[in-house]
Amino acid sequence: MTSRSVAVIVGSLRKESFSLKLAKSLAALAPTLTFDVVTLNGLSFYNQDLEATPPADWVAFRDRVRKADAVLFVTPEYNRSVPGVLKNAIDVGSRPYGQSVFDGKPGGVISNSPGALGGFGANHHLRQSLTFLNIAILQQPEAYVGGIGDAFGADGGLVKESLRDFLKQYLSAFEGWVDRIAK
Ligand SMILES: Cc1cc2nc3c(=O)[nH]c(=O)nc-3n(C[C@H](O)[C@H](O)[C@H](O)COP(=O)(O)O)c2cc1C
Repeated sequence: MTSRSVAVIVGSLRKESFSLKLAKSLAALAPTLTFDVVTLNGLSFYNQDLEATPPADWVAFRDRVRKADAVLFVTPEYNRSVPGVLKNAIDVGSRPYGQSVFDGKPGGVISNSPGALGGFGANHHLRQSLTFLNIAILQQPEAYVGGIGDAFGADGGLVKESLRDFLKQYLSAFEGWVDRIAK
């Protein structure tokens, strides 16, 4: 397999975000993939009026995603849906019309929550947009990570063995998927 690069887009701005910790933990679990953890702090709100001279943060975000072989979304659930910052990033990456940085890429979704349902609602609302954007989303295994509150130690490292095992399996399937789809 060719070594593939993955833009990991994190759906939370919080400093101590579980989603961010999860995203950062992936590199050690799939050493043959290269991960670029993309946080959305400072990404301007999408406004079509600005496309004539797009903000530098849009340009930087678009470039980072465009150059990756694949996109992996790691997100919490807000009110049974996608956090606004993540939806905004999808909107930014999808435009200008006809120049979406997501088009045709392989992708995956890992939702998470301290609660039991693992962000199921966010995961599926997100899939609606990703399907429209022609991202080829890995269907199985699905990744709804519940009970994430005890998954990380004081230094932010992953300490929950069951989650480590699950993420390794998920990434193994994801790597195979990326290799099949990526150009
Ligand atoms: C505005 C808001 C809405 C939330 N809605 C949900 C929800 O629908 N389902 C859920 O499981 N958790 C919900 N939560 C709790 C989040 O799962 C929790 O705050 C989580 O730590 C956020 O992810 P992060 O750690 O990556 O920042 C909500 C939190 C906030 C702030």
